[in-house]
Amino acid sequence: GKSGYDHYMLKEIYEQPKAIRQCLRERVHELEGSVTVDELAELECGGPVQFVACGTSYHAALYGARLLRERGIPAQCFLASEYDVESIPVTKETVVVGVTQSGETADTVSALRAANRTGATTLALTNVVGSSAARECDHVMYIRAGPEIGVAATKTFASQQVALAMLSRVLSEECSTEFVEGLRDLPDQVQRVLDGSTVRAVAEAYEDANAYFFIGRGYNAPVALEGALKMKEITYKHAEGFAAGELKHGPLALVTEKTPVFALLTGSNISKTLGNVKEVEARDAPVVAVTDSPDEVGQYADYVLEVPEAGPWFTPILANIQLQLVSYWVANRMGRSIDKPRNLAKSVTVE
Ligand code: F6R
Repeated sequence: GKSGYDHYMLKEIYEQPKAIRQCLRERVHELEGSVTVDELAELECGGPVQFVACGTSYHAALYGARLLRERGIPAQCFLASEYDVESIPVTKETVVVGVTQSGETADTVSALRAANRTGATTLALTNVVGSSAARECDHVMYIRAGPEIGVAATKTFASQQVALAMLSRVLSEECSTEFVEGLRDLPDQVQRVLDGSTVRAVAEAYEDANAYFFIGRGYNAPVALEGALKMKEITYKHAEGFAAGELKHGPLALVTEKTPVFALLTGSNISKTLGNVKEVEARDAPVVAVTDSPDEVGQYADYVLEVPEAGPWFTPILANIQLQLVSYWVANRMGRSIDKPRNLAKSVTVE
C-alpha cells in the first residue's frame, strides 16, 4: 500500500534513503576504502563503454558516463532507440551497459541484443531480477531500489546514479576515501533534504506558470534534463531542461516573467551558471536556486531550495530530490493523476 502517502510517487521519493542504503549494502567498504560489486567479479573492461538507455534511465547514464570519463575511461551515451551498431563503432573490447529500471524496455533490450551480436561485452544495470535485460546480458548489476509503482521514476533514478557511481570505481579499480565517505553519507543527506524541503511554497507560487526551465552544468546537466522530464510527465505542462550554457543559444527567447527557471547551483564552480541566472533575471523570469551555497546565490533567487554540501559527484543527487518534490507538489495542486499520468506506461515494451 501507500503507507499513508497520497501517492506512490511521494512514498517512493521518501523511500530514497532506504533505496540508496540497499544499493550500497556490502558494496562500499569504509575500512578498506574500497567499492566492490560481487556480481561484477568476472567483468573485464579494457575498452570504451557505451551506455544505452531511455528516458530517466538515459539521464542516469549521462551522469554515469561523466563519472567514467573523469576516471579516464572513454564513455558515451546513446538513446537506446538511436543505437545502431552499423553506424557506431563497436568492437570486442567495447562494454555496452544497458541502464533500465524495468529491464523490459523494448528499445533498450533490442540495443543490448544488437550489441551482443557484435561480440561486445554487455552489462545490464537494472532493478528487476530475471528481467529481459538481465537475461540478455553477459553481466548484471542490480540497483536494489525495491519495487517502484509510480509511473514516474524517482527512487530508481537515485539508485541508478549510486550504482553508476560504484561502477565507475569498480571499472577504474581505484577509489578515494572521499568517494567512499561521500557514498556512505548519502542516505543521511538525502534524509536531510526530505526533512528540510521548502518546496511547497515554490509549487504554490508557480503552479500557474506557462512553462518551466531547468538549467545545470557538468554533473548537474543531466539533473536539469531529469527535472524537466518529471515536470512534463506528471503536470502535463511545458518544461525544458538545458545544459546551462545552452540557454543563450536559443531557448532564452522563450524566457519571460511567466517562465520560472530552476537553476542548479552547486559545487565550487557556480559562477558561470550564476551568469546564466543573471541573463534570465534581466528578462524578469522568476529564479529558483537549488543550491548548497545559499549565502552566495540567495540574492539572485526568488526562492532557494537548499541541499547539503556533498561534493561534485553527489550534490547533484541531492539537488534532484528537490526537483522531484517540486514536480510532485505542482502536480498535486493541479489535481493530476500522479501515479498513472495520461498516455504513459511503467514499462514500454514496444519499439
Ligand atoms: C520517466 C520514466 C521513463 C523511463 C523509461 C525507461 O519517469 O519512467 O522515462 O525511465 O521509459 O524505462 P526503464 O528504466 O524501465 O528502461
